[in-house]
Amino acid sequence: MNIAVFASGRGTNLQAIINAVNRGEIKAAISLVISDRIDAKALDRAKKAGIEAVYINPRDFSSREEFDKKAVSYLEKDDVVLVVLAGFMRLLSPYFVDRYRNRIMNIHPSLLPSFKGTSGIKDAWKYGMKITGVTVHFINDDLDAGPIILQKPVMIEETDIPSSLEEKVHRVEHQIYPEAIKLFIEGRLEVIGRRVKIRAI
Ligand code: GRF
Repeated sequence: MNIAVFASGRGTNLQAIINAVNRGEIKAAISLVISDRIDAKALDRAKKAGIEAVYINPRDFSSREEFDKKAVSYLEKDDVVLVVLAGFMRLLSPYFVDRYRNRIMNIHPSLLPSFKGTSGIKDAWKYGMKITGVTVHFINDDLDAGPIILQKPVMIEETDIPSSLEEKVHRVEHQIYPEAIKLFIEGRLEVIGRRVKIRAI
């Protein structure tokens, strides 16, 4: 079974997933990493791991959907069963979401539905939260709002500053994202409305 990872940035989540595949914890292959940024470190990590690394330049396309169609052509070539968004900073078109419904995962650095958007860690810290966390969810038609697969809390201590909190949150991300992917690959996730049921083995 083939997985594709979409990433725009550092790719530390991608790396955690690569490591979990290499350890045999996820019984699937990452066949493809797609980025909308030519300088994404994620592309280097992919190449280093022997994974096809694809840069798709958004400027080459007149609409979001055209960009997504190009991405889909890569996914279809590899028969990809799961699309993993790992710091992918582009919204997907309804065309793409429909086509891969309940087969696109995202990770968000807060306990959704709190602190949606691009600065979930800082926003939780600024708000004075005592607890934040990480959410892995399926993508649906609304931003950061799809059915929740896994969540894990992270305590915010008085001594924390945004950078220390970020470190804690990332540590948890690197743990639960591979876990969620493993559950999907084992066929143990069932989406019933807003709820994701995790079947026991
Ligand atoms: C993570 O914090 C993730 O929650 C968010 O984007 C960040 C990606 O980090 N969606 P990395 O590129 O995997 O290091």
